[in-house]
Amino acid sequence: MDLMEYQAKELFAKHGVAVTQGIVIESADDAAAAAEKLGGFVVVKAQVKAGGRGKAGGVKLAKSVDEAVEHARAILGMDIKGHTVNRVLITPATPPVEEYYFSFLLDRANRSHLCIASVEGGVEIEEVAKTNPEAVRKIPVDALEGVTPEKAAAIVDEAKFPAELRDQAIEMVQALWKVYVEEDATLVEVNPLARLEGDKLEALDGKVSLDENASEVRHPDHAAFEIREEADPLEAKAKDRGLNYVKLDGEVGIIGNGAGLVMSTLDVVAYAGENHGGVKPANFLDIGGGANAQVMADGLDVILNDPQVKSVFVNVFGGITACDEVANGIKGALEILGDAATKPLVVRLDGNNVDAGRAILNELNHPLVTQVDTMDGAADKAAELANA
Ligand SMILES: Nc1ncnc2c1ncn2[C@@H]1O[C@H](COP(=O)(O)OP(=O)(O)OP(=O)(O)O)[C@@H](O)[C@H]1O
Ligand SMILES: [Mg+2]
Repeated sequence: MDLMEYQAKELFAKHGVAVTQGIVIESADDAAAAAEKLGGFVVVKAQVKAGGRGKAGGVKLAKSVDEAVEHARAILGMDIKGHTVNRVLITPATPPVEEYYFSFLLDRANRSHLCIASVEGGVEIEEVAKTNPEAVRKIPVDALEGVTPEKAAAIVDEAKFPAELRDQAIEMVQALWKVYVEEDATLVEVNPLARLEGDKLEALDGKVSLDENASEVRHPDHAAFEIREEADPLEAKAKDRGLNYVKLDGEVGIIGNGAGLVMSTLDVVAYAGENHGGVKPANFLDIGGGANAQVMADGLDVILNDPQVKSVFVNVFGGITACDEVANGIKGALEILGDAATKPLVVRLDGNNVDAGRAILNELNHPLVTQVDTMDGAADKAAELANA
């Protein structure tokens, strides 16, 4: 789960990272009071889960309460890279003297954690990484050793933080590591990490991604970071029903049992789609083992409600869950959904009890259901129907 800046800053404050939290508002009517409380000289910042807010006009300095209200009015409702701005953060303006970049992230390729630090931070960090990669230091962090005070000092020295800020930077690096480890984050990023007037180091921006697998059991408090009204409604519905669902951009809805089978189904459908007008998979949905009628109905309900979906491919390999159970699940799901089921379903069953499973669907003889015996054949049929 990606957090917004104000949420990231909450976690920063909790773990002792130098930060100013400011005030979050959802209506421009509240801007005057917030700006006044903070002294009038403030920055108004769009809160969206997208980078480059400043460049898009979503971060504005205000010299007075009136200006802050004006900016809040302009920024609220703005679209930044497809995200509507529903809230802004109003925070004291503390113009940076210098801007640095700092992050910890999970480096999957190297099975390790990685620290990236640069004293040439700010909104142009991507550009610096291209034109002057030497200025962007990448320092592996051993997962078992973590960031000790010695490691933090080594990071600060390698990144060449100014000597006057060395002690503060070492503290900051350790506090950010605490956020990363104790909150089970996969990314903690500060850009800019700013040197303020009076040589004070402060996180002026924050990006945090939390590992949701850890959140569910280890951090019940993380649920509060979820902003329901901004979640994709289909993904929210799937989540409520315990389904592993990811919305994609295509036209062929996919249901399968087992993550591996579903992933290869996506590939096969994308390949088949090349012969049928370029249709693509519309989603990933793994109903796992024990696909009873309710699970199948929940899965179909989510997929059929995606207006982009033109056909659905149910691909099941019976193992622990036998094909006849799945077939009964499909039959039950179609009964539960009734008129809500309107799009063609291509079903491929194989494995445990396949004959019984196919017989149940043959007998059902539902006008929307087509059975195809092979995965490639079924993918081709589903793509054809999606393109019809
Ligand atoms: N409190 C502040 N006071 C003064 N200037 C600020 C403050 N916060 C941000 N700025 C300035 O605005 C710039 C952009 O802010 P910020 O980094 O928060 O947004 P962004 O980088 O454009 O967004 P993103 O990180 O999503 O790309 C900063 O580099 C900094 O120069
Ligand atoms: Mg930033």
